[in-house]
Amino acid sequence: MLEEIIKRLNLLINPVTGKTFEQENRWKHIAMEGDKLVAEYMRDGISPSEKREIEQKIAESLNDLIIADKIMIKTVSTQSQDVFKALDNNKSSPSPSPATEPAQIKAGHGTIDKKKSVPGVGKIIAIGSGKGGVGKSTFTANLALTLSKSGKKVGIIDADIYGPSLPMIFGKRDEKPRSNADKKIIPVESFGIKFMSFGFFINEQDPVIWRGPMLGGVLNQFLFDVDWTGLDYLLIDLPPGTGDIQLSMIQNAHVDGAIVISTPQDIALLDAKKGAEMFKKLNLPIIGMVENMSSFVCHQCGTEHFIFGEGGVKKAVEIMGLNFLGKIPLEIELRTGSDKGEPYMAQEKFSTRPVWNAFMSVAEQVENFFVPAPNPSQVKNGFFGKILGLNK
Ligand SMILES: Nc1ncnc2c1ncn2[C@@H]1O[C@H](COP(=O)(O)OP(=O)(O)OP(=O)(O)O)[C@@H](O)[C@H]1O
Ligand SMILES: [Mg+2]
Repeated sequence: MLEEIIKRLNLLINPVTGKTFEQENRWKHIAMEGDKLVAEYMRDGISPSEKREIEQKIAESLNDLIIADKIMIKTVSTQSQDVFKALDNNKSSPSPSPATEPAQIKAGHGTIDKKKSVPGVGKIIAIGSGKGGVGKSTFTANLALTLSKSGKKVGIIDADIYGPSLPMIFGKRDEKPRSNADKKIIPVESFGIKFMSFGFFINEQDPVIWRGPMLGGVLNQFLFDVDWTGLDYLLIDLPPGTGDIQLSMIQNAHVDGAIVISTPQDIALLDAKKGAEMFKKLNLPIIGMVENMSSFVCHQCGTEHFIFGEGGVKKAVEIMGLNFLGKIPLEIELRTGSDKGEPYMAQEKFSTRPVWNAFMSVAEQVENFFVPAPNPSQVKNGFFGKILGLNK
């Protein structure tokens, strides 16, 4: 089987140059480790979005031989340095200001203590998906902006170590977080949202090879060593997948709810179901599922096209007994806004668009999820009792 895998991987086209990986001698290592395929390629000249495209193509080209969960792609580049070395370098950089100094994250093992609450934070919400590229980061960023419209203070942890994208979405790619006098990391702020990302600590070109338990440690730091005081909501943008990495990330903190994102496509849905199962296993209340990229409405003719299939997520939630939080259509400006660092929900000019309304509706449901159910006796005597005809 390995021979066939190597043959197909060699034929992979680099979208930047149009040449095959074999012609460019990009593969550095391809091997089976147990039932897992480990493949490492030279990433020079390949942007994060092209990297995503390549990794999707790898999974597609091998899908009759090996399931995507068992494929581990690593990258190296000529400017590569070990991620832990990068963190060490960061540690030794001089401090230009006495009040703040460059923040450090330590790559250590997670403390396996009881679930802790994050000081100063109202509700923590984990946002996950089984499959990559379904719009988790886009959703998280725009949900945060929508929640902040009703005056809520919102923060985000970008826990996606493989493709941290929040610095780009919020237009803060070159930011270097600093720590305050109490040695707490000060989150970066953009459009009123405070956020912290692995992207601030690693070079975009660096290989990121983490081991599961270490990730738990780093996320722990993002939860407990960052100054999140004053937040109503802290959203965690998890890396795609439902494995040990995701589990080790969220098992230490007291998370109040989870949202699963999927496209209506069958394969994404299968993974989304796995995502929901993972949150259930961790006894996390699932706020609901969101269908992203649900359809595309042609601006010229107004016809709605169901590019990834129709209504798949709604059917799935019915089977799983989960809430359906809504559909977010495909919208070019949602992507271009993210690419330019001008997120969609921060631009009032879109306030009449279906995507805007979809985010407003999801945010409202998220807020309602945490409102305690009214006491029946209050319902009986109050306003709702009156309209429900319960008042005698
Ligand atoms: N509804 C949408 N309409 C148009 N483009 C979208 C939509 N949702 C997401 N995108 C675009 O799709 C791409 C993937 O989205 P995003 O990076 O948010 O996915 P992700 O699930 O976080 O991916 P990853 O698994 O790599 O972290 C991005 O280019 C994003 O701008
Ligand atoms: Mg992402």
